[in-house]
Amino acid sequence: MVELSDIEIRCVSLDTSLRSREVIDKEISDVEAITSKHLSEPYSIYVYRFFINNWPDLCLLALNEGKVVGNIICKVEPHRNVRVRGYIGMLSVEDEFRGLGIAKKLIEESILLMINKYHCDEITLETEVMNKKALKLYENFGFIRIKRLFRYYMNRHDAYRLVLPITEKSSICSSQLPELENPVETVY
Ligand SMILES: CC(C)(COP(=O)(O)OP(=O)(O)OC[C@H]1O[C@@H](n2cnc3c(N)ncnc32)[C@H](O)[C@@H]1OP(=O)(O)O)[C@@H](O)C(=O)NCCC(=O)NCCS
Repeated sequence: MVELSDIEIRCVSLDTSLRSREVIDKEISDVEAITSKHLSEPYSIYVYRFFINNWPDLCLLALNEGKVVGNIICKVEPHRNVRVRGYIGMLSVEDEFRGLGIAKKLIEESILLMINKYHCDEITLETEVMNKKALKLYENFGFIRIKRLFRYYMNRHDAYRLVLPITEKSSICSSQLPELENPVETVY
């Protein structure tokens, strides 16, 4: 029986001085495979590459005996040039590894990175209104529902936008905030 302690969490590594191009490409296609299997929304390979190439440290893998069994993909960007906003784009865990706390661990590590490394003022995400499991998971971290997005997904389901406020800036109207002094560098 697998336990959370058997799961290694690490980010993807794109460093070609440490790993071959083939190994890196295989890891990216593993991420694409697990995500497309479990999320209803289809994403092109360009979307995965966009996230992974720009924020490889925010693409975390959960591995069991070297095999990818879970994954979270995030990014950080300035929002209206007044706030630093983290975003959780995709999260999935293989069926047979669910209920062990893997998603919780992936979210926790991503949040810590977005706060400590990127100094995010808030973290946002969208999830299907019907996805009770995901809503409970995120709300237990303190995420709150701020908007219902009508027919947001291609399957015509609505989404909730959730936000986790980190700093005071998150609760102040953008028009009342000064511009960022050191905007997060946009790499693409
Ligand atoms: C949602 C998902 C990522 C959860 O992964 P997981 O590793 O099983 O989740 P965890 O074991 O870390 O559980 C964390 C919390 O999720 C919630 N949860 C997990 N399974 C649940 C279930 N069957 N029913 C209700 N809540 C559930 C609980 O709040 C749980 O915390 P608790 O154990 O303290 O009660 C996984 O089910 C999945 O991949 N689903 C398909 C893709 C998806 O919906 N992604 C999220 C939308 S972006």
